[in-house]
Amino acid sequence: MSSLLRIFSDDPIATIDPRLYGSFIEHLGRCVYTGIYEPGHPASDAAGWRTDVLDLVRPLHVPIVRYPGGNFVSAYDWEDGVGPRSKRPRRLDFAWASTETNQVGTNEFMDWCKLAGTTSMMAVNLGTRGLDAARALLEYCNHPRDSKYSDLRRSHGYADPHNVRVWCLGNEMDGPWQTGHKTALEYGRLAAETARAFRQFDPTLELVACGSSGAFMITFPEWDREVLEHTYDSVDAISLHLYLGRYEHSLADYLASAVTLENQINAIVATCDYVQARGRHKKPMALSFDEWNVWDMKKGPANPPGMVRWSEAQPQVEQIYTFADALLFAGLMLGLIRHSKRVRMACLAQLVNVIAPIMTRPGGAAWRQPIYWIYLHGSLHGRGDLVETRMSGTPVTETKNHGASPDLDTVVTRNGDQLTVFALNRGAGAHPLELRLDGAVCWKMVAHELLSSTDLEATNSPESPSTVAPRKIGLTPVSADGHLTLRLSAYSWHCIRLIATV
Ligand code: AHR
Repeated sequence: MSSLLRIFSDDPIATIDPRLYGSFIEHLGRCVYTGIYEPGHPASDAAGWRTDVLDLVRPLHVPIVRYPGGNFVSAYDWEDGVGPRSKRPRRLDFAWASTETNQVGTNEFMDWCKLAGTTSMMAVNLGTRGLDAARALLEYCNHPRDSKYSDLRRSHGYADPHNVRVWCLGNEMDGPWQTGHKTALEYGRLAAETARAFRQFDPTLELVACGSSGAFMITFPEWDREVLEHTYDSVDAISLHLYLGRYEHSLADYLASAVTLENQINAIVATCDYVQARGRHKKPMALSFDEWNVWDMKKGPANPPGMVRWSEAQPQVEQIYTFADALLFAGLMLGLIRHSKRVRMACLAQLVNVIAPIMTRPGGAAWRQPIYWIYLHGSLHGRGDLVETRMSGTPVTETKNHGASPDLDTVVTRNGDQLTVFALNRGAGAHPLELRLDGAVCWKMVAHELLSSTDLEATNSPESPSTVAPRKIGLTPVSADGHLTLRLSAYSWHCIRLIATV
C-alpha cells in the first residue's frame, strides 16, 4: 500500500524566513585558521581567504553567519582582533585550550561575509565581560563616524559601518562549561540591560537571548522561562541548540531521533507562550535555533588524541559524516522548516571543518561532506512559503527510544510558481509515495534529485569527493487531476521540484 501526501499548494502556513538556512563560524579548531583563512595556500587570495572554500560556500546562498562563537565568545576581547595585525596579541582561549592569534577579527570577518555573499550575526561576550564591552563593539560596528569607537574603526581602514542587524546576547550562558556561566537570574538581568542599551542605540536591531543549551539540561526549560521573564519585551528571539550523535544507538533509533528537535521546539514555544500570557505581552516570541547539527562527540572530540594544549588551529570537533548522518541531518532540517512559523533563524553549526558541511586540508583540498547536499537543497529550494500537507499511511519502524517512528518524512514549500517537495525515507524498505496536488494550479515536475547509497557508512574525502552526492533521476509526469506516484528507495533523500503550468 502506498503512502499518500496531500499537498494544499494554495494554503501557506508560514512564510519561511531565509535566515532559517544560516550557519556559524567560530574561532574553534580549524574553522577560521586553515578553514576559511590560510595565507600561503595555493588557492588563497591576497588577503589569505581560501577561494576554494569560498567556491563551495557561495552556492549554498547562506543568508547569515553567526560569529565569533560559541564558547569562544564568552571570554573574547573583541579589541584584540582589530587594528594592525602585527600589534594584535596572542591570547589563550580557555574554552578550547588553544592559542588565538587574532589574525582574523571582526573587520576581516565582515570582509569574508562580503566575499561569501552573506551577512553577519554577531555574538557578544556576556561571560567575562558585559554591557560596556558589548555597547563599545556595537558602536564600533554600526555607528558611521565622529565617536570614539566608530572613529577607531575608521582608523582601522573601515570607513563604512558594518551595520550588523542581528546580535546574540552571549552564548549558552546556562552551561557550567561556559566561561562566566551565570544563573538564569544573573543572565536574565544582564541580557535585559544589554538589550535595552542596544535598543537605545537602534530600536530596529534584532536581539537574541540565550535559551537553554539543550533539552538535556536539568534546568530546561525553566532557564528559558526565567530568562524570558526578564527579557521578553527587550528581545526578539530566544536561542535553541541541539546536537545529535549516533553513539551506541541502533540505526533506527539514530534516524528516529530527529523528532527530538521538534519536541524541543514545542517545549520552548509552550514556555514562550506561557511567559507571553503571564506578562500580557503582545508579540509571540520568535525562536533562533542558532546551533544545530549532527555531532557525535566520540567521532568529533573537542580534545582529540595527541592534541597539544595551547597550540594553534588544531583539528578539534571535526567529524567525517556518513550517509547515515546525512539522513538524520535531513530529518532535522525538515523539522526546522516545518516549524518555520516560530523558528525565524537557524544556524547550521558550523560551516567549515568544525562539524561542518565543508572540510579542508591545510595546504590541500577542500571538499563537501554528505550533509552539504541536504543543506544545499534546503537553502536553495526551501524558500517562500511552507504549505499545508496531510500525510497518511506512512510505514513505521519500532525503536527503543522513540517508539513507532514514521519511515517517511516530507515538507513542501512554495515560492511563487515553484513547488518543492522534500521527501525522506529513513526506513529499511522502499515505499511508494503518492502525491496529490490540490489547489487551483496545475504542476509539472522539472527536477528530481536523489541522495541515496547502499552503504550507510559511505563518506566523502579529497580522494573520493563525490562518493555521496546527489544525482538527477527521471521525471514523473503529473496526471491531469494532480496525481503522481514516486518510489522512495530505502534510506533515500529526495528534492523534487515542480513548476506551475497554468
Ligand atoms: O559548536 C560547537 C560548540 O557547541 C559551541 O562553541 C557551543 O556553543 C556549543 O556547545
